[in-house]
Amino acid sequence: MTSDVRTAIFPVAGLGTRFLPATKVTPKELLPVIDTPLIQYAIDEARAAGIERMVFVSHPSKAAIERHVMDDRDLRATLRARGKSKVAAELAETALCPVDDDVRFVMQHEPLGLGHAVNCARDDVLPGPVAVLLPDDLILGKPGALTEMVSAYGRTDAGHLVAAMTVAPEETSKYGILSVTRRAGQLLEADGMVEKPAPEAAPSREAVVGRYVLDASIFDALDGQAPGAGGEIQLTDAISEGASRVGLAGFRFSGRRFDCGSKTGMLAATLHLARQDPEYAAVLAELDAEMAAERAA
Ligand code: G1P
Repeated sequence: MTSDVRTAIFPVAGLGTRFLPATKVTPKELLPVIDTPLIQYAIDEARAAGIERMVFVSHPSKAAIERHVMDDRDLRATLRARGKSKVAAELAETALCPVDDDVRFVMQHEPLGLGHAVNCARDDVLPGPVAVLLPDDLILGKPGALTEMVSAYGRTDAGHLVAAMTVAPEETSKYGILSVTRRAGQLLEADGMVEKPAPEAAPSREAVVGRYVLDASIFDALDGQAPGAGGEIQLTDAISEGASRVGLAGFRFSGRRFDCGSKTGMLAATLHLARQDPEYAAVLAELDAEMAAERAA
């Protein structure tokens, strides 16, 4: 699959304070849902969408991310020598290879916001629109959310396309919220968006989750941008600024999204995947039976 969207940016420099102590040493993007780290789901989704170059905006303290995503030939050789060729082959399939894959790591030294993180990648992107994936928004579904968005991007006039879902009124203060002007199937045309508004100030209940396809003008918008909500350079503000120039639309993806930036979201994602895998049927049934017995007692 080839498309105009050739680069994916993964902002992964955040501290992950919500998961301390688990994230004291381990980056939050490497926390697993069952046995697969969050970053791996995002990489797989980007690959399936035909992305050619991946740019990770990381932090020097999070070197483990690079070690995870890149191929480890020594580890694979050790596994093969121990008769674990199947595991070695699986690792080779999911890892990024420095020769065959186009991968870059850039550092965001200070936590100045998501917009600032995306702008750190500006010198490393290929020409054309860019995708941004926030790994702690796990979206499960086939086709992947980014594949759906890249395909929709080719059919819409909107220069900025953002993944959207409806949230409860009291949840608007956790998300970027779209100012929707027209609804057309999976597309929500919008004339702006607001970062984390209080319910009474929210222009709609259509929240943006962590998948974006952005016109390349986003970098110029970010360059001159003053800090916004929370004192941070907000990606939301740069997108909103571009709405009148390049167009903006929300996209209702068909997969299921889990907020893996929260413990409840991680648990829900884990249980969701476990329920689909016969390997875990017995242990889940046992726990259900225990809970039913406790309730009856
Ligand atoms: C970021 C964005 C926000 C978006 C959210 C999706 O917020 O700033 O607009 O709705 O991701 O998960 P964060 O969750 O990083 O605070």
